[in-house]
Amino acid sequence: MEPGSREADWETLRELARDAMSRAYAPYSGFPVGVAALVDDGRTVTGCNVENASYGLGLCAECGLVSQLQNTGGGRLTHFTCVDGRGEILVPCGRCRQLLYEFGGPGLLVETPAGILPLSEMLPQAFGPENLTK
Ligand code: THU
Repeated sequence: MEPGSREADWETLRELARDAMSRAYAPYSGFPVGVAALVDDGRTVTGCNVENASYGLGLCAECGLVSQLQNTGGGRLTHFTCVDGRGEILVPCGRCRQLLYEFGGPGLLVETPAGILPLSEMLPQAFGPENLTK
């Protein structure tokens, strides 16, 4: 999926996130989540949350997404969306903003209930790979 018509792209990305959400494993929270992102080479990657009987070990949907990104050739995330069990736009949790920062950096565009925002506005003064090489 190329970033041509912005509106169409976000709608398509949201549909991919909803599809992933339909496969979530969330028996403990009852809160399925799906995510989808566009990669700079045109690929799309998705994820759903996968919980665990040991509650604290549950994996957010973004964990699956970054794992798929790396395991299908790497690259940089450019556009990201997250939906809840009703398919409505959801903000990514704090830990997941950090996961996204690693592979998208401050310029990653994130769809939020308040509109499309760069990740730099959702994770200000982020700690990232560049801090380790200074
Ligand atoms: N969750 C995600 O998968 N991603 C987020 O960004 C927000 C929270 C999941 C974790 C847990 O399985 C459920 O939503 C309720 O917190």
